[in-house]
Amino acid sequence: MPSTVDPFEDLKTRQREMWSSFAPTATFTTPVAGHLVEFAQIKPGETVLDVATGTGVVAITAARAGASVRGIDLTPALLDAARENSRIANVEIQWLEGDAENLPIPDGQFDVVVSQFGHMFAPRPEVTIEQIRRVLKPGGRIAFATWPPEHFVGQLFAFVANNSPPPPPGAAPPPQWGNPSIVAERLGARFEAPFFARGVMLFPALSLAHFREFMERSVGPMQKLIEGAAKDPQRLAALRSEFETLAAPYYFGNMIRQDYLLTRAKAL
Ligand SMILES: C[S@@+](CC[C@H](N)C(=O)[O-])C[C@H]1O[C@@H](n2cnc3c(N)ncnc32)[C@H](O)[C@@H]1O
Repeated sequence: MPSTVDPFEDLKTRQREMWSSFAPTATFTTPVAGHLVEFAQIKPGETVLDVATGTGVVAITAARAGASVRGIDLTPALLDAARENSRIANVEIQWLEGDAENLPIPDGQFDVVVSQFGHMFAPRPEVTIEQIRRVLKPGGRIAFATWPPEHFVGQLFAFVANNSPPPPPGAAPPPQWGNPSIVAERLGARFEAPFFARGVMLFPALSLAHFREFMERSVGPMQKLIEGAAKDPQRLAALRSEFETLAAPYYFGNMIRQDYLLTRAKAL
């Protein structure tokens, strides 16, 4: 297990608070969870860890496929929603509060570790991947869904970063986990060469303004940016206009269409 001294503790405290409003967005990550569980080739009886589970969409989908599942997340408010979701779905899952960079789990426990738009937010990819590899059984596999840097959410994170105080030095931008060559490099000698696929996540929205309002309420990084500009009407209007300009190319047929990258790899 890594040291308990964490140089990113403040960042994680902010993340915990920032993600607590995410539950309504899980409606749109639910179909991706179905794709990821299939892509991960999860079989009945396998042991699965869902890292950064949020409201549990991937964990619950894997449990419904017959796996024995644990879900871990930094944000207690989302784990409360996950507990309620597993109660409704009538599946047993062990929910843990914890950090992807310091998994409170002994070595060699899981056949599969999955993460959907989750582990990408842990600031140190090398620490996260070392932790994930550590809790896998020999020959176990990973399967991730991540947002690529060149597509809408990747650009949104760049837009938020450009308009916010800088992150602590050494924190990697989350959408780098959506770049196949960076992913392959990060998996390095610990995994076989990764297999990649892609999918499209759909956000129904009646107008770009509806989509923006939803994002301002339910996606922490955007919410924080808008709250920070609340007392400056001119800046607020400029940020909102820039957001809609960024989203416009992805909006047609009353949907925002967001590509995602799937990565699968077997541990060496
Ligand atoms: C975009 S949400 C995705 C949630 C869920 N996997 C889904 O697909 O709906 C990002 C999640 O990452 C979690 N998270 C961020 N940093 C984390 C960390 N260092 N360790 C564990 N979870 C983290 C947040 O609390 C949040 O639940």
